[in-house]
Amino acid sequence: MAEKAILEYLNSNGEIVDSGKFATSVGIDHNEIVSAIQSLHGCQLVVAVKETKESWFLTEEGESYCELGSPEARIFSDVPPEGISLVELEEKFGPKFFRIGRSAALKNKWLEIVGTEKVLCRKVEHVHDKVKDLLLQIKDDQGRSAEPADIDMLKKRKLIASKKGTGFSSVSKGSEFALERKKLMTDLTREHLLKGDWENLKFKKYNLNAKVTLDGGHLHPLLKVREQFRNIFIEMGFEEMPTNNYVESSFWNFDSTFQPQQHPARDAHDTFFLNEPSATLSLPEDYVDEVKRMHESGGYGSKGYGYHWERKEANKNVLRTQTTAVSARMLYQLAQSRPFAPKRYFSMIFHQIEGLVCDRGLTLGDLMGVLHDFFERLGMKKIRFKPTYNPYTEPSMEIHSYHEGFKKWAEVGNSGMFRPEMLRPMGLPEDVACIAWGLSLEGPTMILYGIDDIRDLLGPKVDLSLIKRNPICGIGINY
Ligand code: PHE
Repeated sequence: MAEKAILEYLNSNGEIVDSGKFATSVGIDHNEIVSAIQSLHGCQLVVAVKETKESWFLTEEGESYCELGSPEARIFSDVPPEGISLVELEEKFGPKFFRIGRSAALKNKWLEIVGTEKVLCRKVEHVHDKVKDLLLQIKDDQGRSAEPADIDMLKKRKLIASKKGTGFSSVSKGSEFALERKKLMTDLTREHLLKGDWENLKFKKYNLNAKVTLDGGHLHPLLKVREQFRNIFIEMGFEEMPTNNYVESSFWNFDSTFQPQQHPARDAHDTFFLNEPSATLSLPEDYVDEVKRMHESGGYGSKGYGYHWERKEANKNVLRTQTTAVSARMLYQLAQSRPFAPKRYFSMIFHQIEGLVCDRGLTLGDLMGVLHDFFERLGMKKIRFKPTYNPYTEPSMEIHSYHEGFKKWAEVGNSGMFRPEMLRPMGLPEDVACIAWGLSLEGPTMILYGIDDIRDLLGPKVDLSLIKRNPICGIGINY
């Protein structure tokens, strides 16, 4: 309707000089005209020049005068030819309304106050309620046709207020002008190409000036928490370990972490062995000998496992089943550099976070202290430990944290002190100990984000708005 009015007007008159006036003249809301012009301009049916103008609207007080008349006019019409006492009239209208109306009527010289009795008398017979007329007009055309002096007066009396509005100061025919808009195509499809009708189609031009809100992806809570983990590790002086060797020999994956070769975890059911290349090409031979001895007969106070250790088994390549294989490689490297220097390492891959500290004289107390510190930095103050078993740590502790949503403790990780059976064959000095832990990413994330069903975090049921909405928890960084 707006579009039709604009195109027809341009067809017979050539130009619209003021979109506001045009809207009033055709009786269509200005906003509707503005959006129609914008869209026609986008398709080059018209050429429009934008302008931002102040437009006026009535205040609540202005609206009431618009309906019932201005106070001065209403007071005037209540003054009888013989006059009336000020007190009597004030009682009728109330003090505020009366004060406004009386002073305006006196200023307009419509009324006068006569004698010591204070009688209000008419000075003229008829008055014209200009304020009401002005208000009516402004209500209709947002002040476009009003004189600046009148606008000023009404503004001072707080009967009108302004807002900035967009309009067009000139609208004329564009290069694609037509009385009716042709449907513009937005997609060139396979069917168009096959039918050959693409030649006659009109395509919509790109509007490079269109305002768009870019919402190009959000970090998943798991990634945000992983980033927090990384920041905390770095704050605490940890270095990141390289985790890019996804194919690992059984030696580094199992043997170096003191897992016996008959252990069921090595079975094909739990581990993916590689066919090609099926075996590792090289291992550090001296160290291999030490590992073999430790498994077979122990040492440094350990009895070992007492079985025949096979090199063939250690050579088998697997898809790395644990990042502790990386930790073992790093510790072995550390053991080779002399003199011994303490180290703090971490690794993060998919949903597994691992950390270790290797130094002289470390105890279980250090492990608990470091983990308390670590989780506190993450915003998780309630931490508890529970004894558990790992082949490569002794003692070993599960880490539990309190889930406010569940109102119960939930496991967030596993930890322990690496066994001498793992550290000694590497060549680390005897007073060097290593505290280590492996954390889940989901556990802490669910606690920090108050999620009590893991399916809300991962998988097809993930609540996307949760991902968009949630800033990073805990230490107040927004990603
Ligand atoms: N590899 C362990 C796991 O999978 C993680 C861990 C590392 C546990 C170090 C204890 C000590 O849970």
